[in-house]
Amino acid sequence: MAAFTITHYKRRYYRAVHDLLFRARRVHTHLDWHETQHWLESQYQPIMRLVWQNWRLVGLLAASQPLNHAAWVRLVALDDRLNGDALSVMWDAIAAELRGLSVQRVGLLMMDDWLEPRLASLGFRYVEHVVTLARSGDELPPPRPNRVEIRAAEPGDVDALVSVDHAAFAPPWQLAADEMRQAHRIASTCTLAWLDGAAVGYQLSTLYMDGAHLARLAVVPNQQGQGIGGALLGDVLQRFFRRYVYTMTVNTQDSNMQSQHLYTRFGFSRTGYDLPYWEAAL
Ligand SMILES: CC(C)(COP(=O)(O)OP(=O)(O)OC[C@H]1O[C@@H](n2cnc3c(N)ncnc32)[C@H](O)[C@@H]1OP(=O)(O)O)[C@@H](O)C(=O)NCCC(=O)NCCS
Repeated sequence: MAAFTITHYKRRYYRAVHDLLFRARRVHTHLDWHETQHWLESQYQPIMRLVWQNWRLVGLLAASQPLNHAAWVRLVALDDRLNGDALSVMWDAIAAELRGLSVQRVGLLMMDDWLEPRLASLGFRYVEHVVTLARSGDELPPPRPNRVEIRAAEPGDVDALVSVDHAAFAPPWQLAADEMRQAHRIASTCTLAWLDGAAVGYQLSTLYMDGAHLARLAVVPNQQGQGIGGALLGDVLQRFFRRYVYTMTVNTQDSNMQSQHLYTRFGFSRTGYDLPYWEAAL
């Protein structure tokens, strides 16, 4: 096999990146709210390495910008003829760059099986599954009294959304402000729960051909267990019912019993579509 060269990403490589992502069978994309091009353009300096062989792009690996000492593996692609050595060379370079940015852990949500056998040798360990639950129909559990006021979140509310998000989720599950802005932009509905003038919870949902997806639900820790998550969930389901949307899916960590308890009370059940979550400590 010809020797390979490793480089950083530059804008002029976009076409080659696009072509590799299109033609390679070993691809991992976890960009959440972005299309590939939009994601690359949104990165000030992408944390990314490219592998070239005979002037041809044959591999790439990219991570998210760090947030609170954590990052995600966002993009991986390997040309069919490339062996696994290139992956470890790219990962070593990315891991060194992330260490320099004070990153302590890197998450990877396994979308495709091909990557899994290689992860342990790169220093990742399996943590748990992210599970999918779904519900359908227009029946809701009886509402419980509480004092929160639920209002649609406006673009000017991004700071409030981020502060609730960061209080409720641990790294690397938090959304950065630019991700929140993008998520809010493409959300079908995003609502905030207010209590005595303070934002205490939010949900953000998207709409697909076959139903709604509850992408985020969060309540600040000192207000959890008082029905605010249930109030946000009941409210968003009713908003969808008014639009004749009666099915909803949601993902959560297998270990997150509090959220699963809530989802089960609202008629959600596991679909069996679960994704392994792996993590590397740097
Ligand atoms: C999940 C979350 C949104 C729920 O919000 P909340 O305001 O606490 O929700 P509610 O008070 O309406 O309901 C929580 C339910 O979980 C129960 N519960 C609390 N801790 C629990 C635990 N460890 N195991 C099982 N059930 C638990 C509560 O008793 C309550 O049940 P009940 O309605 O039968 O009384 C909130 O805990 C949160 O923000 N967690 C962190 C972020 C997160 O995990 N989001 C969801 C994943 S996408």
